[in-house]
Amino acid sequence: MKIVAKVRTLGLCWILLLVSVFCHGEDGYRLWLRYDKVDNDNLLQQYRSRISSFLFYGNSSTLNAAKNELKIGLQGLLDKKITETNSAINGTIVLFAKGSKGVVTSNKMFDYDSLGKEGFIIRTISENGKNNTFITANTDIGVLYGVFHFLRLLQTQRNITNLNIGSVPKIENRILDHWDNLNRTVERGFAGISLWNWHLLPDYLDQRYTDYARANASIGINGTVLTNVNANAAVLTNQYLVKVKALADVFRPYGIKVYLTAKFSAPIEIGGLKTADPLDTSVQNWWKRKADEIYSLIPDFGGFLVKANSEGQPGPQTYNRSHADGANMLADVVGSHGGIIMWRAFVYDVRVQKSNENFDSAKIDRNAGSIAAPDRFKQAYAEFKPFDGKFRKNVLVQVKNGPIDFQPREPFSPLFGSMPQTPLAMEFQLTMEYLGQGTHLVYQAPLFKEVLDADTYANGKGSTVAKVIDGSLHNYTLTAIAGVSNIGNERNWTNHPFGQATWYAFGRLAWDHELTPAQIADEWIRQTLSNSNQVVNTTKKLMLASREAVVNYMTPFGLHHIMSSYGHYGPGPWQNNLPRPDWNPVYYHRADAFGIGFDRTSTGSNALSQYQPQVQAQWKDSNTCDEKYLLWFHHVSWSHKMKSGKTLWNELCSKYQQGIDTVRWMQQQWNGLKNFIDEERFKQVQMFLAIQEKDAEWWKNACILYFQTFSKMPIPSNVEKPDHDLEYYKSLRFVYAPGNGGNM
Ligand code: GCU
Repeated sequence: MKIVAKVRTLGLCWILLLVSVFCHGEDGYRLWLRYDKVDNDNLLQQYRSRISSFLFYGNSSTLNAAKNELKIGLQGLLDKKITETNSAINGTIVLFAKGSKGVVTSNKMFDYDSLGKEGFIIRTISENGKNNTFITANTDIGVLYGVFHFLRLLQTQRNITNLNIGSVPKIENRILDHWDNLNRTVERGFAGISLWNWHLLPDYLDQRYTDYARANASIGINGTVLTNVNANAAVLTNQYLVKVKALADVFRPYGIKVYLTAKFSAPIEIGGLKTADPLDTSVQNWWKRKADEIYSLIPDFGGFLVKANSEGQPGPQTYNRSHADGANMLADVVGSHGGIIMWRAFVYDVRVQKSNENFDSAKIDRNAGSIAAPDRFKQAYAEFKPFDGKFRKNVLVQVKNGPIDFQPREPFSPLFGSMPQTPLAMEFQLTMEYLGQGTHLVYQAPLFKEVLDADTYANGKGSTVAKVIDGSLHNYTLTAIAGVSNIGNERNWTNHPFGQATWYAFGRLAWDHELTPAQIADEWIRQTLSNSNQVVNTTKKLMLASREAVVNYMTPFGLHHIMSSYGHYGPGPWQNNLPRPDWNPVYYHRADAFGIGFDRTSTGSNALSQYQPQVQAQWKDSNTCDEKYLLWFHHVSWSHKMKSGKTLWNELCSKYQQGIDTVRWMQQQWNGLKNFIDEERFKQVQMFLAIQEKDAEWWKNACILYFQTFSKMPIPSNVEKPDHDLEYYKSLRFVYAPGNGGNM
């Protein structure tokens, strides 16, 4: 009877599982961890003959996570139950961290010295008639990363008969920054509401938390900042810290540390103090007690991310102290527990009254009110460069990839290469605030790679931004890279199915910035969509073209920040009514009867002088400047002769058209995959591409019509005529556009 009941229960479980898979169809929830049966018979044979069982040495929550993943992964991919064994037979995957008890293989067989804390080795060893695969590392987390990599090999259908892989992350801290508010709105979030259900934490632990950790660990992400940079001090109260602890406990087995944003005024807001001055001992003591409380709950707490004296956030300058004073005070309180501080360099205070070159943050006149801003481009460098070497060892200064704000294309921030004595962390934005948000298909790996490969010339040729970030250029002892998350509670996590590819690419590049966007796209497509050549080749082409397309239909030739102020979604080049000059599109494009663009050479703001001479030389002459950056650095006439021989005006109009043409080509390419991709995701992407086409046309029409009021030149014949007049485009309003979470 009992057996019958058990069989019945098991049967019911399977039915329930199938029903749930069926109900959700291919909804994208599984991301790149789908583990469907290998659809290539020869390879399936190979995998089945090479994988009979697995053998783990050691026992820990991380090894258990690795075991679970291997079990479900192999079972799905091989469509066969793979069992755990306690001694290696032919086809056993043997997994262990260096020095584990009971390991028969000599440690000398593996070169552990170069693996560090997180690297791994995967090697086929054939001896005594047995072919076994070894996955080993210095630590359990290294073993987990090895398991994910091994599963990636199977999912991407690689030959596994003779493996000899060693892999070590190039950057130590690889972090997602969530701009999530406690009320679950997400600042610049376009994929639903926040994953963190604060109301139900700590008692209710959504399965999503584990799946989030699995996905991140599979690409090597090892940190998560849970809260918005526009911070809410309440997260530092005990009521919330126990919730943070619950999340930290879920993430820990997957090697993911939790960080929080620290509101600088917290000692006043929740501590009852009169000041938050970082040099005041009562303030220092308050933060020390707070850090001790956090670490007693979360012993491996990562530390704080801080946005200070920027866009209304409080900071040390409020008390006439410097960024270094503020960062160091917090560094001291977390430092004794092994924590770090990521202090953001995203600052641009209009109250700077002097020219930026002479800017001294300690001498800001707080009562000056809003004055015309000097070039916002220059401010981060002006505020931080003087403090190089003044920060504690456990502080990173976190710099956005470009000098302004996550535009479709920016030159690299001049801070990279300029702070040899202060570790700099890179901040990319995965959520596409200025790139069509959760609606456009833009694979951002080419953008990330363009920045990482840029040459700062700080120590001569070859001083790339990647070498600054990975610490090799200036011998930084602390390294980090952060991506502002594009994840929310949408069933498929990122709203647009291809948003997943950017998340994936960020993790993979954070681990190894030498990977190419094409390699990463290849991996992602095979795991997420299909291994069919047709799907892989077509989708890869489309993904690789998508970033240049968005540049062309939004901001060609170095235009920037001309998005509508209604949520930064559509075009708004005419906008001129926001309280700060440097929030307005007109501040950035500077179109007039003569021409267009921001003169940042010595005849203008001279922001160019913040770069090394070799970089300046590349961009300082409008006739030789790479046209991608022309209007970032030059105000040039409408009839300026471009490399093609045509006028700037004609080329500008043509680029907008080119952007639309690429989107239409992307649509055609995607439509050709109809029979190769599941209906649900196929249709979703198809609908999103249709919106993208409409939006690209909107961008072209609005921008060309507006700029034409200055150029007074005809729209060239190769460019489609706008279907409305300028007033129509100006009248569009999107009051409830998503992503304006506010500071809750
Ligand atoms: C942008 C964005 C803000 C965000 C800010 C930041 O300005 O629009 O929502 O708070 O960047 O990075 O701090």
